[in-house]
Amino acid sequence: MNKDLISGFDLSVSDINAIFSLTKKLKRKKISKALSGKTVGLVFQKPSVRTRVSFEVGARQLGADCLYLAPQDINLGSREPIKDVARVLSRYLDAIIARTFSHTHILELARYAKVSVINGLSDLYHPAQGLADIYTLIEKAGKCKGKKLVFIGDGNNVVHSLAALSAKLGLNFSLATPKGYEPDKKIWAQALSIAKKTGSKIEHGYDAKAALKGADFVYTDVWTSMGQEKERKKRLKDFRRFQINAKLLKAVGKKYSIMHCMPVHRGEEITDDVIESKNSVVFDQAENRLHVQKAVMALLLKQQVKSKK
Ligand code: CP
Ligand code: NVA
Repeated sequence: MNKDLISGFDLSVSDINAIFSLTKKLKRKKISKALSGKTVGLVFQKPSVRTRVSFEVGARQLGADCLYLAPQDINLGSREPIKDVARVLSRYLDAIIARTFSHTHILELARYAKVSVINGLSDLYHPAQGLADIYTLIEKAGKCKGKKLVFIGDGNNVVHSLAALSAKLGLNFSLATPKGYEPDKKIWAQALSIAKKTGSKIEHGYDAKAALKGADFVYTDVWTSMGQEKERKKRLKDFRRFQINAKLLKAVGKKYSIMHCMPVHRGEEITDDVIESKNSVVFDQAENRLHVQKAVMALLLKQQVKSKK
């Protein structure tokens, strides 16, 4: 495994398999000593429920100590150069979990930190979310190869992470967005080129109904991500035909599960009846953040010990 987890593209298929196999064990046996004597720090520029709590609780369940550094504590990117923060924190901590606005902040932290940096969401990626999502999908469907995951909404950080992991694992991934909300061109091209080798079908279009046909899993996320609040009014208008509701879901034509990374904006990207329906696996996704991230931390830190020897 690489030193850091910045995006799903950093992981080989065998890394992902190792993460999922350890996740399975850790899900059965909550407490372990894998990180005993370690200290993990969370450096966050944005609010969080799931990422903050699951990393913090996960680190503690593995025997580590954990520090949460809120946006106003570190003031990452404005109080002092990020390269200095990275080198100082590396003298105290064994891993840094960072949530930033700009992806370049995560890259700079990782470049200068001696310890592992885990991306806890940036404007481009949310790899820990993507891993927990695919783990959940495999729990529900038994496998991911050949299954169809459909994402309706914004071509955002969650989409980029799902595309990277789907391409690697042979999961078919169909995305429908409004015009002007396509995924990042370079990231999409990277996913397509991996998919060519693995046989995964990765597609993007503008027709939600067409994308939904034959879906095994239907995923959506907020229309206005953190940091885009000024665009909210325009986005509400541009996305209105992309709401996941009972009528749109008729296009699936078979049994499916509903996924969402949460937080949910009921009545915007998804209706309350759909998110609360028996098809919804959103709380399993949220729970699996804890188990998957414990596996990621345990594997990255074990590797650090080996590389210091
Ligand atoms: N899904 C997710 O990352 O949630 P938080 O923003 O609450 O961490
Ligand atoms: N796309 C959302 C994900 C939240 C977990 C955001 O970046 O705000």
